[in-house]
Amino acid sequence: MDNPRILLLGFGNVGRTLTRILLENTSARNYIYLGACDSKGCSYNPRGFRREEIRELLEVPRGGLVETVYGAREDPGRLIEESYPNIVVDARPSNYGEPHKDIYELLNKGSYHIVTANKAPLARNPELIVDNPLRNRLHYRATFMAGTPLFDVITYGLLGRPVVKVRGVFNTTTTFMLTLASQGYSFDEALGKAISEGIAEPDPPLDVECIDPAAKASIIAATLGYKVPLERVNRRGLRDSWVNEGFIRCVSTVQVNKEVKVTAFPTILEPGDPLRLAVGKRNVATVDVSDGNSILLSGSGGGPYQTAMTLLSDMEKAKSQLW
Ligand SMILES: NC(=O)c1ccc[n+]([C@@H]2O[C@H](COP(=O)([O-])OP(=O)(O)OC[C@H]3O[C@@H](n4cnc5c(N)ncnc54)[C@H](OP(=O)(O)O)[C@@H]3O)[C@@H](O)[C@H]2O)c1
Repeated sequence: MDNPRILLLGFGNVGRTLTRILLENTSARNYIYLGACDSKGCSYNPRGFRREEIRELLEVPRGGLVETVYGAREDPGRLIEESYPNIVVDARPSNYGEPHKDIYELLNKGSYHIVTANKAPLARNPELIVDNPLRNRLHYRATFMAGTPLFDVITYGLLGRPVVKVRGVFNTTTTFMLTLASQGYSFDEALGKAISEGIAEPDPPLDVECIDPAAKASIIAATLGYKVPLERVNRRGLRDSWVNEGFIRCVSTVQVNKEVKVTAFPTILEPGDPLRLAVGKRNVATVDVSDGNSILLSGSGGGPYQTAMTLLSDMEKAKSQLW
């Protein structure tokens, strides 16, 4: 693929950051930008946008793409049919109730790759990852831990050396609130502070019910070859486990020793536990290998820039089709 044709679904924090990177990063200029979609519609041109036209898209307010010169109310299936993208980037919201499955279901009808930051379709449908003959056209390193190579390590970095356990702290909102717990805050006080400081949404069940950490555990399990959809992850929320002592974090665990156990709940971390490195926005994971080795990964938990850079890295991976 010399000049890959890309279509971007989701034009919010991550989608716009990726678009900016494609404009500014000289090594990323060979992509042909076919268009972008938000919740109201799309702006697309099957011949590709010129650079100044892409710049103008970045000035469009949220939900305004359909009002632009190339505005269209097409669904992704129709756009794919008309514009033959090589890569479809999914930066739509992680909607666990009704995940956007369209482009995943159409994968066998086209030849495009999917590069995604959207966790919901994968966490609700692990069969997209496990035993999927089209798996090599699905790239999802940007879904979480985008600042570290967790997925590279557990996908091929340890080939032939079975992974028996992955534990991690992958959610900065729960880390923020549980840090306040150890300082004596009640659940409601900690939630109020998280909301007032813009760290949590006003209605944040994804975080406080540990749904987001559970989704991440499900995706790790699928990457290791086990189908444990989000609804089967053993999960408990923060309110039910609120205590004001100890070093607590919402820990996602995937254990695949004799039986497969996938969990996400607040856990007291004993002194010396490497997951105690999860302070502030830092995400931490340990990967235990059957030969007795334990690998520690730690890095920024994501954020729009890290996530968009990892999307770009997956686009490059799709382009080269090396892995
Ligand atoms: N932000 C991060 O740091 C981060 C890190 C890792 C993973 N992620 C994942 O990346 C994805 C995007 O995150 P974000 O922070 O960019 O979210 P966001 O700012 O809320 O942007 C979401 C975008 O998707 C659009 N959208 C909603 N429904 C759509 C639909 N049916 N078709 C097409 N577009 C639709 C929204 O449209 P409107 O503009 O009209 O609202 C918006 O442009 C999420 O799945 C998130 O979980 C984010």
